[in-house]
Amino acid sequence: MKLRVAILGAGPSGLAQLRAFQSARQAGADIPEIVCYEKQSNWGGLWNYTWRTGLDAHGEPVHGSMYRYLWSNGPKECLEFADYSFEEHFGRPIPSYPPRAVLHDYIMGRVEKSDVRQYIRFNTAVHQVVYNDEAATFSVTVRDLEKNELSTAEFDHVIVATGHFSTPNMPYFEGLELFPGRVLHAHDFRDACEFEGKNLLMIGSSYSAEDIGTQCHKYGAKSVTFSYRTKPMGFDWPESFAEVPLLTKLDGKTAHFKDGTSKEVDAIIMCTGYQHHFPFLSDDLKLNTHNRLYPEGLFKGIFSLANPKLIFLGMQDQYYTFNMFDAQAWYARDVMLGRIALPDAGAMAADSRDWVAREEVVADPLEAIDFQAAYILDLVQPTDYPPFDVLGVATIFKEWETHKEADILGYRNKSYRSTLTGTLAPVHHTPWMEALDDSLETFLNDAPQDERNVA
Ligand SMILES: Cc1cc2nc3c(=O)[nH]c(=O)nc-3n(C[C@H](O)[C@H](O)[C@H](O)COP(=O)(O)OP(=O)(O)OC[C@H]3O[C@@H](n4cnc5c(N)ncnc54)[C@H](O)[C@@H]3O)c2cc1C
Ligand SMILES: NC(=O)c1ccc[n+]([C@@H]2O[C@H](COP(=O)([O-])OP(=O)(O)OC[C@H]3O[C@@H](n4cnc5c(N)ncnc54)[C@H](OP(=O)(O)O)[C@@H]3O)[C@@H](O)[C@H]2O)c1
Repeated sequence: MKLRVAILGAGPSGLAQLRAFQSARQAGADIPEIVCYEKQSNWGGLWNYTWRTGLDAHGEPVHGSMYRYLWSNGPKECLEFADYSFEEHFGRPIPSYPPRAVLHDYIMGRVEKSDVRQYIRFNTAVHQVVYNDEAATFSVTVRDLEKNELSTAEFDHVIVATGHFSTPNMPYFEGLELFPGRVLHAHDFRDACEFEGKNLLMIGSSYSAEDIGTQCHKYGAKSVTFSYRTKPMGFDWPESFAEVPLLTKLDGKTAHFKDGTSKEVDAIIMCTGYQHHFPFLSDDLKLNTHNRLYPEGLFKGIFSLANPKLIFLGMQDQYYTFNMFDAQAWYARDVMLGRIALPDAGAMAADSRDWVAREEVVADPLEAIDFQAAYILDLVQPTDYPPFDVLGVATIFKEWETHKEADILGYRNKSYRSTLTGTLAPVHHTPWMEALDDSLETFLNDAPQDERNVA
């Protein structure tokens, strides 16, 4: 009987797994029976923008955390699929920092071309996964959201590709319940124009705080105050920005901070990160971790130590994204196809402990980039994932860090050379701070934005 594989989620990670199997099939391999369950009505994961917040039309938690006017926060040359360059997709070189719609188009291009949509059951939410020791299979229970029907099917392998930037981590601060303005988590942020003319308080000092703060500034916020728990971001911020220690309490509109200072604010955005949340997994299968480079409990960063037939994709904190998900998916595929043998449980646990220990001595972002590069190299070497210059990409990430340090509002105007095609990206027609229209059409149009507005 054919092996049966369930893939949970059709975002970039789940799609990477579908693409990995399809490429083996095209090369003549006999691939398993595959079903991919996706609770949204379309594929693309977070890149499939939704205006909704809270619950979706069926009462399921809204997955999307992306917002309007989101531009890539890293160079596209760092996330390029090794088997599908940006140049191949767009038919010409494009600038290094595309907006969301352009990246979405690119992700979709590869999977449309490889004909994997047939495997996906859309509008189908996974509600339970349990392992049956006797049958040595997983029972996966899903709800067809349109028919409102539950059903259960058996699988030999389950691949969890449900993402981990969707369930908010939402701390409490004294006085929040009486704050006379909007309080929201980054997960529910959709449109910076809402905050035009406002004094904003952002809790957190990582990518969401930085990006939502700079975006609100771009679309007219009066001031942006970042409140950090561990350390400030330390960029050379323009005058209307400030970084202060952690919020201690709110007294009406007045926010008080740990250093004794205070500030009147109109709205609070919690950029306090996300939880790895798997309500559908039985307790013995759950992955208990946080946003880190090497989640505990996994061999090769993907195979559950509790049950290696349960595979997690994309659960890492991410410098590398799409090509890392590919590296994971190709490796996982080769294990499922019997091309790579897993070692015994003791060896897997020891290897996992070694990587976790290596991560624990990572001292700064540059070492973090090297760590993730080493992890990806370890994965791609035994597979037939097309060779890509993992270390060359690490070098681009390091340049990106330097460019951010130098100019936090201008780093997206830089260009980088693709390690796949060797092409240096053209400069975008409009500097990022002036590019208010983030549509694919405007991004790909070669005329500067002002000229088009006049015409
Ligand atoms: C605001 C934001 C901006 C980002 N910007 C960038 C960027 O500029 N560049 C970059 O490379 N990365 C960026 N990322 C990182 C992002 O994590 C990856 O790009 C990528 O989307 C991860 O893919 P994934 O498939 O692992 O998860 P997701 O994209 O989250 O996809 C998971 C899928 O699983 C589905 N799902 C979840 N639960 C269930 C269930 N119970 N049943 C069925 N289906 C389910 C979801 O509907 C979704 O389609 C950003 C992340 C965030 C939050
Ligand atoms: N344009 C873009 O491309 C874009 C935009 C936004 C986000 N993203 C992506 O989204 C992902 C998630 O980023 P993120 O910033 O949301 O999460 P994150 O990187 O996990 O950072 C979480 C932040 O919340 C802080 N925090 C957590 N609990 C807190 C508490 N109780 N009180 C105060 N602060 C608290 C953390 O502070 P400590 O440092 O003290 O732990 C940290 O600064 C990243 O992969 C990022 O690249 C991309």
